[in-house]
Amino acid sequence: MEYNPKVVEHFLNPRNVGEIPDADGVGTVGHPGCGDIVRIYIKVEALNGHQVISNASFKTFGCTTAIATSSIATELIQGKTIEEALAIKNEDVAKALGGLPAIKMHCSVLAEDALRAAIADYKKKSGQTEFMQEVMRQSKLHEDQELLSRKGNSKK
Ligand code: FES
Repeated sequence: MEYNPKVVEHFLNPRNVGEIPDADGVGTVGHPGCGDIVRIYIKVEALNGHQVISNASFKTFGCTTAIATSSIATELIQGKTIEEALAIKNEDVAKALGGLPAIKMHCSVLAEDALRAAIADYKKKSGQTEFMQEVMRQSKLHEDQELLSRKGNSKK
């Protein structure tokens, strides 16, 4: 399979790897087919009346593309408002890497869903549970709410 150089570069030198110990939101998703798992951590700060993602990191157990898409996703969302981050789709993640082989597009969906789950977790902690359900509903990958699980997110 042919990967473009940016995918390979993010796989070999992933950005923002690891946990944010005092993260405001943590989202974990797993792909039921391949078993790969992506977890994204976000730190949110109030800035000029907006909620802004000031820091983001990830831990991914998965393929080359799952790692590369997790890496670029954490770069894309830093400095974005929650609303801007929610507008980022898996196609944007793939585009930021210069494109992905069609067979690997599902890996970028994991990055999008993990981001959504992290934002949902942040909103849940803010008491906005209706938003959480909307995020679950929008999830492309996980029809089953159990798969968009935040169980164990507090584990280190
Ligand atoms: Fe499953 Fe890449 S093969 S996320």
